[in-house]
Amino acid sequence: EAFDLVIRNARCVTAADTFDADIGIRNGRIAALGERLGAGHQEIDAEGRYVLPGGVDGHCHLDQPMSDGSVMADDFLSGTRSAACGGTTTVIPFACQIKGHSLREAVEDYHRRAANKACVDYAFHLIVSDPTPQVLQEELPALIREGYTSFKIYMTYDDLKLSDREILDVLSVARAEGAMVMIHAENSDCIAWLTERLIAAGKTAPQYHAASRPMLVEREATHRAIALAELVDVPILIVHVSGREAVEQIQWAQAHGLQVFAETCPQYLFLTADDLGLSEHDHHGAKCICSPPPRDKANQQVIWDGLQSGSFAVFSSDHAPFRFDDPQGKFVAGKDAAFNQIPNGIPGLETRLALLFSAGVLGGRLDIHDFVALTSSNVAKMYGLYPRKGSIAIGADADLVIWDTDVDIEIRNEKLHHAVDYTPYEGQRVKAWPRTTLLRGEVLAQQGEFLGAAGQGHYQPCGLPTPAKPRVRSA
Ligand code: URP
Ligand code: ZN
Ligand code: ZN
Ligand code: ZN
Repeated sequence: EAFDLVIRNARCVTAADTFDADIGIRNGRIAALGERLGAGHQEIDAEGRYVLPGGVDGHCHLDQPMSDGSVMADDFLSGTRSAACGGTTTVIPFACQIKGHSLREAVEDYHRRAANKACVDYAFHLIVSDPTPQVLQEELPALIREGYTSFKIYMTYDDLKLSDREILDVLSVARAEGAMVMIHAENSDCIAWLTERLIAAGKTAPQYHAASRPMLVEREATHRAIALAELVDVPILIVHVSGREAVEQIQWAQAHGLQVFAETCPQYLFLTADDLGLSEHDHHGAKCICSPPPRDKANQQVIWDGLQSGSFAVFSSDHAPFRFDDPQGKFVAGKDAAFNQIPNGIPGLETRLALLFSAGVLGGRLDIHDFVALTSSNVAKMYGLYPRKGSIAIGADADLVIWDTDVDIEIRNEKLHHAVDYTPYEGQRVKAWPRTTLLRGEVLAQQGEFLGAAGQGHYQPCGLPTPAKPRVRSA
């Protein structure tokens, strides 16, 4: 029987191996890997190019209801279209509990937002903002068993943050059920205190966002999160790690045998706090306001070192799309609003892989197998989607990206497919870009052109994450 599709002459790269093969695809899955495979109804010649598992973006925000009146620019259609063109075939955004409401409501609402819109496959993380006894004893365990096996908790933001006591309660549910907890680690009171002083001194411009969240507030909260997880004896994932001080806490924990995993993002490799201060008169710095804020060149190097040494398990976009020139976007509180009234977050779904492939793999800073691990395989493992996602193997979904690695492309927002009116990476150059993106054997994007369709992406319930298993210790 002929294959539905054969990709010829692929230089396949997984987190472990590189091998030259034809890839035979049937019913959306990889059916054969071998030399000179039989015919396919359709064939694509990769001409010796790298073929990698489709990217899995384990941290992005799409169409997430906001409490400050702002509206995310990307819904599941524009966000996943953008993901596809950037080589990402699975996204995991957040179904966010609103305080006073149930988690179940958030999940049902979020399914309605995604259905018939998503162009790539998707799973959901939960955000637990109100851990009532009902949530802890019933809702959360039930949802984990239904395939929502990871959730994020916040140590800052008034509408989301949990107390240490609440964090302990939530962590013990994760331990009992085998779920993965993602922690946003920044000290809320320190930020509030610093913000008040900055604003009282008239320091309200976007650049002061960075001054209101110095590295020590991230270091302290990271340390505390690690201690709380150690007390409960449960693995955790510290998300969007920005620089040296948090990295040191994570490496300390890892060296002491604690199962502390870490995530970092493109903004901590390719932006600095100076990007918040440029063109202060017209507030362009707002484009780069995210939390934790980008640091400086020396800290970028620390992040590169952590990627290389294995301190980081996953590399995500933290895509949080707010338009710049839009009253529902960065200036929801007015053009002259202080930095603390500007929605946090930057877009990055489409540029995540090309930036890291180019500066990392082609720049000699990152082994290509580590690239696949950080952007796809480890993410799939972290959230219970492996090996259906994140691998090139018999039986895996045929989510594949054929890469061009001999290009010289200037990133320009007008070429991207999100609904945000800027990219913080405008003008940066990359030497790699996804040539062809396939989702379950169907071409979704080709050389920057979107060829997929709304609703082509399917919801993926998650299994229990492998890394969330508490360690077995000998007596
Ligand atoms: O500033 C950021 N990172 N916004 C997105 C929400 C979050 O905390 O990840
Ligand atoms: Zn966060
Ligand atoms: Zn985020
Ligand atoms: Zn379908």
